Amino acid sequence: MAEVTDSMAHAPISSEKFDLSVEQVSLHFETPNGVLKAVDEVSFGVETGRFVGLVGPSGCGKSSLLLMMAGLQKATFGDIIVEGEPLTGPRPQDVGVIFQESSLLPWKTASENVEFPLALRGVDKAERKQLATDMLKLVGLSGFEDRHPFELSGGMKQRVSIARGFCQDPRILLMDEPFAALDEQTRMTLGDELLRIWEGHRKTVVFVTHSLTEAVYLCDDVIVMSAQPGRILERIEIDLPRPRTYETMATADFGRLRDRIWRLIRGSE
Ligand SMILES: Nc1ncnc2c1ncn2[C@@H]1O[C@H](COP(=O)(O)OP(=O)(O)O)[C@@H](O)[C@H]1O
Ligand SMILES: [Mg+2]
Repeated sequence: MAEVTDSMAHAPISSEKFDLSVEQVSLHFETPNGVLKAVDEVSFGVETGRFVGLVGPSGCGKSSLLLMMAGLQKATFGDIIVEGEPLTGPRPQDVGVIFQESSLLPWKTASENVEFPLALRGVDKAERKQLATDMLKLVGLSGFEDRHPFELSGGMKQRVSIARGFCQDPRILLMDEPFAALDEQTRMTLGDELLRIWEGHRKTVVFVTHSLTEAVYLCDDVIVMSAQPGRILERIEIDLPRPRTYETMATADFGRLRDRIWRLIRGSE
């Protein structure tokens, strides 16, 4: 199994072969107790079309890192490079984000929420309505198109957010624990749908999760971060064949990879 060693994980990287690269990024917060180092000199690159996972103990800076990659949070030091240029703010056409908590517009229906990024892009009404209907079907919400967020459960709202993220169709899709609030079965179904969409469109994906099973099941590589201050411990290539199925999870290789990540995380706390 190919893997990047600890020293390589911290080495400066060339941004040319990457769709997105994180270069020596640190994020510090001023707090009453002094400076809090949320993210500490993190560097990694994501090749075009690669599905990369980010795991680590709670509070290790995964969400902060994702916000910086989306241009929604400025790094204290270092750069995020997208298509060869440092990111200076959000670029929703290139980089889309799906957050852990659904962030729907309460006054719009499920369909209108999903259509929203398409409307911003100037897609005409009939086409965006159709796309939204298709996406809502994909996430198992056919028949709920005209409901408002207050009429939907937490899991349903999250599925609407996911449909909206897919509809936005950015080249690079960042996902912050998108399935965390969902039941096991919905989680599995959406994971498979995500892989299907990714295999069809070859998006570049960065996927944060606290589920190691989910990380190993979905990803090409899993980047393991240490507890605060968040640093990269190791980048592990998940060389399991695709397409992956439920049976993949029962294989010895699957178990070994998950155990290895688990030991790394446990050792860092
Ligand atoms: N706006 C903020 N002000 C101060 N501290 C913050 C802020 N946002 C995050 N943090 C701190 O930064 C660290 C990393 O947070 P976060 O990125 O949310 O971690 P994770 O997503 O891995 O759980 C935590 O200690 C958190 O308390
Ligand atoms: Mg988080």
